[in-house]
Amino acid sequence: MIFDTHAHYDDEAFNEDREKLIDEISRSEIRKIVNVGANLVTSQNSVDLSEKYDFFYAAVGVHPDDAAEVTEEGIERLRELAKGKKVVAVGEIGLDYYWNKDNSDLQKTAFKRQIELAKELSLPIIVHSRDAAADTMEILHETDAGNLGGVIHCFSYSPEMALESVKMGFYIGIGGVVTFKNAKKIKESVEAIPLEKIVLETDCPYLAPDPFRGKRNSSLYLEYVVKEIARLKGIDENTVMEQTFKNALNMYNIEA
Ligand code: NI
Repeated sequence: MIFDTHAHYDDEAFNEDREKLIDEISRSEIRKIVNVGANLVTSQNSVDLSEKYDFFYAAVGVHPDDAAEVTEEGIERLRELAKGKKVVAVGEIGLDYYWNKDNSDLQKTAFKRQIELAKELSLPIIVHSRDAAADTMEILHETDAGNLGGVIHCFSYSPEMALESVKMGFYIGIGGVVTFKNAKKIKESVEAIPLEKIVLETDCPYLAPDPFRGKRNSSLYLEYVVKEIARLKGIDENTVMEQTFKNALNMYNIEA
């Protein structure tokens, strides 16, 4: 049993064979998938997928790249979308200074506004944070976002930061990057935090694990992530699958 806590199956990379691939996934070890929105359109797409497929759930939110969409109308739209029965989180939201640091104020405002929305809706958050560790932690602390719970997705910071996030109340999302030979910090983070605080994610179509690095990713490749976590922690793969599955149900408040 595997839970993919972060996927983007509405991405155009799946346009040619989406139905076929999802059918194949439905007959694999993958039992649940959360499709994550990154703007207003993909949030709607995520809700649509959750209504179409039994084992799909949705998250609605605006990624820092599209922070300008977080107007009061944008928030109202997210609020409407969140009425979907299978919407389990607000995300992905956060800060990304890798591509754009000039609009950091806009990104911060959009992040905080969506944390507020998550509080109003009593939903956990999916945090995207790249090259913005200090500002992200500051906002999570100052808004008490740890009480909402959720995940620091595609975790890319130090083991110290992983432990601090866990202490605040967050899970750590681990995906394909952990299998890369040069992903030293992420491997160390996996070793440092308890298995009870790890959830699996693909972020597909991005970030395929070795030996598929650079190719289109899908939930079917999560077995390589499971293998690497098991190796790093010196435990068996079944334990990794079962515990991370439970963690994800807990995190998203989904009944088994
Ligand atoms: Ni993503």
